[in-house]
Amino acid sequence: MLNRRTLIAAAGVALSCLAAIPAAAQETIKIGLILPMTGPFASTGRQVSAGAKTFMAMKGDTVAGKKIELVIRDDAGTADQTRRIAQELVVNDSAKVLAGFGLTPLAMAVAPVATQAKIPSVVMAAGTASITKASEYITRTSGTLPQYSLPVGTWAAANKIKKVVTLVSDYGPGIDAEKWFTKEFKAKGGEIVEAVRVPLANPDFAPFLQRVRDAKPDAVFVFLPSGAGSLFMKQFADRGLADAGIKLIATGDVTDDDILNSMGKPAIGTITGHFYATAHDSPENKAYVAAFKKANADMRPNFMSVGGFDGMALIYAALEKTKGDVTGPAFMAAVKGLSWTSPRGPVSIDPETRDIIQNIYIREVKDVNGELQNVEFQTFKDLKDPEKADAK
Ligand code: PHB
Repeated sequence: MLNRRTLIAAAGVALSCLAAIPAAAQETIKIGLILPMTGPFASTGRQVSAGAKTFMAMKGDTVAGKKIELVIRDDAGTADQTRRIAQELVVNDSAKVLAGFGLTPLAMAVAPVATQAKIPSVVMAAGTASITKASEYITRTSGTLPQYSLPVGTWAAANKIKKVVTLVSDYGPGIDAEKWFTKEFKAKGGEIVEAVRVPLANPDFAPFLQRVRDAKPDAVFVFLPSGAGSLFMKQFADRGLADAGIKLIATGDVTDDDILNSMGKPAIGTITGHFYATAHDSPENKAYVAAFKKANADMRPNFMSVGGFDGMALIYAALEKTKGDVTGPAFMAAVKGLSWTSPRGPVSIDPETRDIIQNIYIREVKDVNGELQNVEFQTFKDLKDPEKADAK
């Protein structure tokens, strides 16, 4: 029979269960991952989200006693959607961290939301140097175009290349790439014979490649956003630039590992600078590539995926440091100076700029056992973003 005491005890248990429900619900930290999952830059969204999920598959979904939940939203690559989704994620879904951002204008659109709501925002893909200056709540695990372009300038000047035409997408990262390749190449004695800028949307490279051919340089230096390299490579071959003896040098965005294998022979011999190659030889990368392929048998992880993987590594490490405190100021203080071993090599977060310090590798496209790979052969160690180092 139930007596008064057991009833009171039972009620107590029920109440403590009730009280435990909201407490347990609070233990979940939602991370809003905003990416172009459709449209011309869908490969970026696919890679970054696969990289982020691979991190969670390898390390689990709990950190500092909190459960981590990824909420993935598609902005289709348009900035007003990115901003609207960011606001919705913060206000309606109580997301505590925003992340992703496939292109510079999309990252820029979120900066005012990050500042106003004090929401940590992790740029996993976009690469214009100025992005981290747009809000003190922004940090980055991709890198900057000045970081990838300067070493290509150093390499070109040291390798008998005297005259170069630059060809870049006409927006933030392209302008950064053009500026920093040119600055370094000229400082080391090189000459820029022409600077060509191509539209970001639906580019037809043929008329621009004709201009490059007519200028008769030793090499053309190229930046195009990830995904655009296939069409470029085809038109580069069709227009006979390689046959005319013009060498292709580029940032690794052009020979992105996701699409490199489908580019075929014309890509072989291309020299690029970037932070990650699927073929990077390290135990951390072997484990990463294996875990990535387990969940995505039809894909090869490219640098975008590693931006996603390391974005999650940064979030987990910051939460460990704050013991689960995800409020903006505490989280951002924890981000500064973090360091870890990434599949790309050693990385850290510059405490002054919140940008990533990392190795940049010079690579050559080679056929390795029937697969095209970016094969690393020279390392520029622990590079900071040169744009901000220069401003000081
Ligand atoms: C950018 O818009 O910042 C961007 C996009 C794709 C890249 C690099 C940079 O591969």
